[in-house]
Amino acid sequence: MKIDTKTPLIEAKGLSHSFDYLLYKDIDISINRSCSVAVIGRSGSGKSTLLHNLSGFLKPHKGRVILNGKDIYSIPTKEADSIRRYDTGIVFQMHYLFKGMSGIENIEIASLMANKKIDTQVLKRLDIEHVLKQRASTLSGGQQQRVSIARVLAKEPKILFADEPTGNLDRENAHIVMDTIISYIREKNASLFLVTHDEEMAKMCDRVYLLKDKKLTLLQSSV
Ligand SMILES: Nc1ncnc2c1ncn2[C@@H]1O[C@H](COP(=O)(O)OP(=O)(O)OP(=O)(O)O)[C@@H](O)[C@H]1O
Ligand SMILES: [Mg+2]
Repeated sequence: MKIDTKTPLIEAKGLSHSFDYLLYKDIDISINRSCSVAVIGRSGSGKSTLLHNLSGFLKPHKGRVILNGKDIYSIPTKEADSIRRYDTGIVFQMHYLFKGMSGIENIEIASLMANKKIDTQVLKRLDIEHVLKQRASTLSGGQQQRVSIARVLAKEPKILFADEPTGNLDRENAHIVMDTIISYIREKNASLFLVTHDEEMAKMCDRVYLLKDKKLTLLQSSV
């Protein structure tokens, strides 16, 4: 099948969301294939909420989100579920592994559900090969985080969302994780939307925005 390189994989128009107060208003964003975008901002500015709006899990109060050409909050539920299940992958701020299972079993579930083969290169890159037989509950926080990233990548999503994927990691492992994610995006022609408070990690993306004063401001762009 020919890959459509023109249509952005992630597009949002006029996004606004509030809880007790307005978090952001009229946000537009567009991310093409093989591109990565990071949003930084202080705690409570609305980064995770924006990620949930964009990933199809939380309908914004205003605006549209288009994932791979489909208006995710307007299409029939079944179609939206299929996009969420097969096309998108989310690395959550808190990692949710099945604690009673081993690391490799956690990853196998994702690959089986998506009918994909586990990429051993990813396991090697993330430096988790030697702990994969251990129960997830016995892994260190950083190892659990890396297994949960391997689990998301095992689905081979076209559209990847990551919420503080390096939050529990030391510098060296944070770099390993970001390198793995960025390589994945380039190799699979996928798109990344990352939110983090870690400027150094954000700068590894093609574009960096600051979420502040209810809007996104472009800080850095290499594309
Ligand atoms: N489901 C909810 N109900 C009510 N308020 C919420 C809900 N989710 C988030 N909020 C509030 O919205 C604001 C933004 O939260 P959000 O999690 O998006 O921030 P963040 O930028 O990701 O912060 P952090 O860097 O700490 O993760 C916070 O004040 C939070 O308490
Ligand atoms: Mg957050």
